[in-house]
Amino acid sequence: MPQEHYTPALGRLGPVRFYDGIVALLTRERRWRALTAAHLAAAAGDTIVDVGCGTGSLALLLARAQPRARIVGVDPDAAALAIARDKALRAGVTLEWRLAMGDALADLMGAASADKVVSSLVLHQCPVPMKRAMLASMHALLRPGGRLVIADYGLQRTRLMRLAFRLVQMADGKPDTQPNADGLLPRLIEEAGFVGVREADLVPTPTGSISIYVAARPCARSSGSTAPGATPNISRI
Ligand SMILES: C[S@@+](CC[C@H](N)C(=O)[O-])C[C@H]1O[C@@H](n2cnc3c(N)ncnc32)[C@H](O)[C@@H]1O
Repeated sequence: MPQEHYTPALGRLGPVRFYDGIVALLTRERRWRALTAAHLAAAAGDTIVDVGCGTGSLALLLARAQPRARIVGVDPDAAALAIARDKALRAGVTLEWRLAMGDALADLMGAASADKVVSSLVLHQCPVPMKRAMLASMHALLRPGGRLVIADYGLQRTRLMRLAFRLVQMADGKPDTQPNADGLLPRLIEEAGFVGVREADLVPTPTGSISIYVAARPCARSSGSTAPGATPNISRI
């Protein structure tokens, strides 16, 4: 099936085979991935979908932490998925991989079929209409009460972080990345129908600060609440 247009993992910086090395070097990867996994709290029996899984590092971390969860990685880039598959094979971990965009997840897997959805470093490189479509799609994929965790470049609060984020903007282009840096994501997450939207953690990195947003698809009767003024934990470790 032909894939719609998408920005590949490293944008204009280079081919995906260099992605893992660059992310390790420039994003304090261990820290934000560990926080993301902690907020997701994979449990035995969970179905967890990693949207825009790329080379599979987060999906693998989740599968290692909770071997009794079903983890599905979705990405439109066949080259990235080939790396992910190879890493999983070498690690002896069983995961599922699907070649698809992130804006039709319910068609791909079934509506309300996931307990948890996670997406890391993806939305910053998507145009605003695609960010909206993907969040709506994640909402449709989650069961009522299911949890969403998004780890991505969010509001860049300081001059230093805005400067650092320019490298990402050079790679992925300003039109798609600037809305994230201006702090648009929490509003988009809410507009997609999620409740309890909060920026739970903030990790300053050499390429800008990475925010970890946590939210839920409302339970059938929940009116929901948001915590727009809540202050994130700032990670210094
Ligand atoms: C910067 S990489 C992040 C990969 C991985 N999530 C991680 O944490 O390392 C962004 C990934 O999002 C994928 N992507 C871009 N646009 C997408 C879309 N509309 N739907 C799903 N995945 C998308 C790219 O193919 C790429 O693999």
